[in-house]
Amino acid sequence: MDQFEYNKKVSGVDKPKKIRVFDTTLRDGEQTPGVNFTVEDKMQIAKALSELGVDYIEAGFPVSSDGEFEAVKKIADMGLKSEIVGLARCVEKDIAAAADAGVDMIHIFIGTSPTHRKYKLEMTKEEVVKKARESIGFAKEIGFKVHFSPEDACRTEFPYLVEVCRMAQEMKVEHINIPDTVGVMTPAAMGWLISALKKEVQVPLAVHCHNDFGMASANTIAAVMAGASIPHVTVNGLGERAGNADMEQVVLGCKLIHGIDSNIKPKKIWSTSRLVERLSGIRVMPNFPIVGANAFAHKSGVHVHGVLKKAAVYEPIKPEYVGTKRHIVLGKLIGSAAVKEKLKDLGIKASESEIKDITSKIKDLADKGKKVTEEDLAAIAQDLLGKVGKKRRTVELKDMSLHLELGKRPIASVALFVKGKEKYAKESGVGPVDATLNAIRAAVGDKDIQLDEYHLDAITGGSNALADVSIRVSKNGDSTMARAVHEDVVMASVLAFINGVNRLMK
Ligand code: KIV
Ligand code: ZN
Repeated sequence: MDQFEYNKKVSGVDKPKKIRVFDTTLRDGEQTPGVNFTVEDKMQIAKALSELGVDYIEAGFPVSSDGEFEAVKKIADMGLKSEIVGLARCVEKDIAAAADAGVDMIHIFIGTSPTHRKYKLEMTKEEVVKKARESIGFAKEIGFKVHFSPEDACRTEFPYLVEVCRMAQEMKVEHINIPDTVGVMTPAAMGWLISALKKEVQVPLAVHCHNDFGMASANTIAAVMAGASIPHVTVNGLGERAGNADMEQVVLGCKLIHGIDSNIKPKKIWSTSRLVERLSGIRVMPNFPIVGANAFAHKSGVHVHGVLKKAAVYEPIKPEYVGTKRHIVLGKLIGSAAVKEKLKDLGIKASESEIKDITSKIKDLADKGKKVTEEDLAAIAQDLLGKVGKKRRTVELKDMSLHLELGKRPIASVALFVKGKEKYAKESGVGPVDATLNAIRAAVGDKDIQLDEYHLDAITGGSNALADVSIRVSKNGDSTMARAVHEDVVMASVLAFINGVNRLMK
């Protein structure tokens, strides 16, 4: 039996063979509280989205600020494969700004629900239709394609929504987007609405679902199953309030569960998610589907044993398919099969009885509330196998000092043992962590070592909290994660960086 067998019983009659993905990470995604992309960030993300295979990139809302205009213009000038879209209200200066930014298509929206008409726009139904007609007409007159949204469509009276959509069709818009602006729909209701609208208008339909009830991705997939062919999505589900439909979930839900194709290259999903996580500063929840740190992690002995025998036992998606790897978590639920596999990864040979001893040691530590990492496993194994002290790490910290002065760049000096030889370096940086890592890189003498990701978590609160630093470092395409915990943030960063460098230089 196919793992998605039951889903075939409800396959939509109107479902498209292929969806065209409309990514709004750079517009609605940037509306996430706390997110402010620079022009360079936006360009970097746009390039990644285009390489990922997104069909439309909503690059921003050009009229909203000079910086936003510049970002959209620069993205439009990048010559990307994706079509570039700019947002505009039904206001001439908005449409003119999007046009001046050189986008391929203008996304024009106006609120149509009773709430939006009465409280936001203070307009009658007729006034809204007139305004929308004039605005679409203006954009068309100056030669632009139009993606039209009756904002808050999912709280708009159906006959009036049909009237607005028919007007947009008459005005020859390219697409009509149906936004669930405040995320009130369910998959069944969304399917019904799209099917009903498809009987009234022939223009290709898009959907834009918000996640207020946690159903944005499911609603989007239901809309696609009912015949909407242009799902709006954001990377990591970023967006206003609880966010938008998540790109990863929608694309893989359509493709793997329902057999609906897209131009997305699944192998690039993980790296795109990491890039957006880093540039947005919004950390993906560990238990987030597909791109969360735990999405392909297995902890209990039963699960680990199963997955090591056959991945499909506990994995509906192969981690390699989205460009990542499986993780076996070490803890009190660990079994010897997982320990054996981990030791193999670390290049450590052990007999069955030694593996049993190592497994009990890990369980012991976990029972005492200790977090056992892969590094600890190597240490435990070397200890139990009597190899302690024989293997020296390539890079060891001997000493370090930091000089901080108000208004000046911090300066760090480090002394390291690199392959047993003492090396010194002194470097400055934008902050103490940056200065110290620059000094380590200089002392190691390998300019190719890059710090790709850096995450800091405070364990417990207060200024004496433990700092938990996880990083990703790479060298000439080889990359590795490393982690360290210390009561001082700079030391935790230094130890994590040295751990990572040791792994790269192994
Ligand atoms: O949520 C929404 O309705 C929007 C519109 C601009 C489409 O973001
Ligand atoms: Zn939105």
